[in-house]
Amino acid sequence: MTEEGTKPYPVLHPFTYMPEPSAFDSGSPYIRLCRAQGSWAYDEQNRAYLYATTGATSVGLGHPRVLEAIAKQYAALSFASTCAQSHPLAVPLAERLIRLCGGHYAKAFYSADGSGAVESAMRLARQYWIAAGQPKRTKFVSLEGGYHGTTFGSGSVTHLGIREMFGPGLAECYNAATPNLYRPPVEGKPEWIVSFCLDHLEETIFEAGPDEVAAVLLEPVQGVNGIVPLPREYVAGVRELTRKYGILLVMDEIGTGLGRAGHWTVSQHFGIQPDLLTVSKGLTGGYFPLTATLLSAEMDRLLFGRGGFFLHGVTLSGHPVGCAAAMAVLDILEEEGLVERSRQEGDAMLSELKSRLGDHPFVGDIRGMGMMLAIEFVDCKDSKQPVDDAFSLRLSKLLREAGVLGSFLSGVLTLYPPLTLGQDEARQLTNAVIYAVSKLS
Ligand SMILES: Cc1ncc(COP(=O)(O)O)c(C=O)c1O
Repeated sequence: MTEEGTKPYPVLHPFTYMPEPSAFDSGSPYIRLCRAQGSWAYDEQNRAYLYATTGATSVGLGHPRVLEAIAKQYAALSFASTCAQSHPLAVPLAERLIRLCGGHYAKAFYSADGSGAVESAMRLARQYWIAAGQPKRTKFVSLEGGYHGTTFGSGSVTHLGIREMFGPGLAECYNAATPNLYRPPVEGKPEWIVSFCLDHLEETIFEAGPDEVAAVLLEPVQGVNGIVPLPREYVAGVRELTRKYGILLVMDEIGTGLGRAGHWTVSQHFGIQPDLLTVSKGLTGGYFPLTATLLSAEMDRLLFGRGGFFLHGVTLSGHPVGCAAAMAVLDILEEEGLVERSRQEGDAMLSELKSRLGDHPFVGDIRGMGMMLAIEFVDCKDSKQPVDDAFSLRLSKLLREAGVLGSFLSGVLTLYPPLTLGQDEARQLTNAVIYAVSKLS
């Protein structure tokens, strides 16, 4: 009980505004989901919501094949460490990830969340440079608006207020301009914006010292920043620049990877080979906390070609139940051709939203890639003045009433429906969004 007699609300929610305790007197302000099936989740009053948030649900909720695989694995081996031990699924899953993600990787390192996968990539990059006889390469460069996680390392290359909230993180992390074509750092045609941002990255590398940068980190579509796709030419240019200065490239495909953006990885779609790749959300589809960092054959040779340690990891790394969930999810994605199908479905939804909402006075931009869709709202189309919090609250409420669970951050509605979304459900989703937006005045 607080001094005033109000019982404190006992959960500290991540990334969630926590109002003062009395706000909870009439119950929790947060939606409580009790059950789910396919693309739909149901609250306590049995109201149905199309689940289009977080990007984790690649094969939908409660998929019988995944549940069965998990149950079988729990019965057979409910836990095994991968620290100097293994189990029958650790190697096949790593081999499968290497094949699906482009084939030039040699190993997968398992973590338990996306932040951990990025942290592992940063550690591998540091260790690589020590082993390569360049121990001064300790610095990291990432893009403004980028989101890479919340641990001290991954949080230090993340923007969006994380660093400001906690004070100094990892020393010597640098920011480079992002080629956000809707809110560009410089006015002009896309080619000019890309060229400006590549020049800015090169200047940033020089500011840090070209022989002191360990890695550049990129999200090919900045998810948390409001689904901002990086132009292909920019990503290709970054690969060239990192090669020119001998810097490693980490592609953070935690959000985009394993089908979400309509391709197994956006890196493959763009024809580039990163040195390190992180995958997470779609890997187990939200059924188990398991993520992976893939390292290139070249890095593997130097680090482990003559034997060696990676002095890093977590107790649950490569958990057998997580591996079983991932194998079942990948079976479904591959057998049902869902990566290809969801790309087509995502393209169709994007066109539909553009044609029906493009002229709306509060809609500034509609963008996306595969099953990542975003609508950026503005007060005025010309000035691109962002909408205020009251607008966001009104739209979130309207969307809930229309039966959609999306995410709303900084005036951008983001939608991540499952890759298993049916055609009728896709129509329902776009119609519900269009209906909610049409109610705004
Ligand atoms: C691109 C990217 N990297 C890293 C992370 C961090 O993942 P997690 O929340 O699982 O730690 C996220 C999460 O949204 C992400 O989108």
